[in-house]
Amino acid sequence: MENQIRHVAIIMDGNGRWAKKQNKPRTAGHYQGSENVRNIAIAANEMGIEVLTLYAFSTENWKREKNEVDYLMKLPSVFFSRFLKELMEKNIRICMIGEMDRFPKATADILTEAIEQTKDNTGMILNFAMNYGGRREILLAAKHYAEDVKNGKINNDLDEEKFEHYLMTSEFPSLDLMIRTSGEIRISNFLLWQVAYAELVFVDEAWPDFTPEIFKKTIEEFKRRDRRFGGVK
Ligand code: IPE
Ligand code: IPE
Ligand code: MG
Repeated sequence: MENQIRHVAIIMDGNGRWAKKQNKPRTAGHYQGSENVRNIAIAANEMGIEVLTLYAFSTENWKREKNEVDYLMKLPSVFFSRFLKELMEKNIRICMIGEMDRFPKATADILTEAIEQTKDNTGMILNFAMNYGGRREILLAAKHYAEDVKNGKINNDLDEEKFEHYLMTSEFPSLDLMIRTSGEIRISNFLLWQVAYAELVFVDEAWPDFTPEIFKKTIEEFKRRDRRFGGVK
């Protein structure tokens, strides 16, 4: 029997290299990348995926040059002004993991509004990881748990299932598949806890060239994989 697929995560890498190849500024790659978010989200929704988590900005991406960071902070506004209506029509719900507090106010407002407007949609969840880092997520969860114990809210009897309630992904099904585009074979601090038993697929295409057709092939490959979770079949 083929594997069921509920939650897919993508490390959308390679926008900068894509732009460089065409003698364009890195920001042009990010613009093209945001257009591809729309294409892949629609395809994922059609395939019946429940949650698509996209790595859009890491806690380490603040290291980049100011003009690139500024542009990336403007992208949510560019993206939602172009596509929110269509996502709404497709019954897609927008969510976010990561911390909004470091964003410029306009960026935080746009994201909050998209989340609010789509909160009753019952189709696929399009979940953006923004100012997200896997280590930071685990650290915050540990702090939060410690506070709850200190305040007498819960007993100090933590297990994996209880700990997951403190993660930013607590409301989502467990991760089935993680894809990274653009040829790099690393996780770059994405969903470190959740990736434990996810299947991994690395593709050579840069994110703007990662078409719905390639995406569908990746999903087909996932469905054929032998998932054992440490057991024996
Ligand atoms: C991914 O593309 C987008 C973000 C990290 C925001 P990159 O900007 O990392 O592109 P490359 O890896 O430099 O080609
Ligand atoms: C990972 O890509 C982060 C996002 C796609 C948002 P990076 O381009 O930042 O990762 P490294 O630097 O190659 O590890
Ligand atoms: Mg990169």
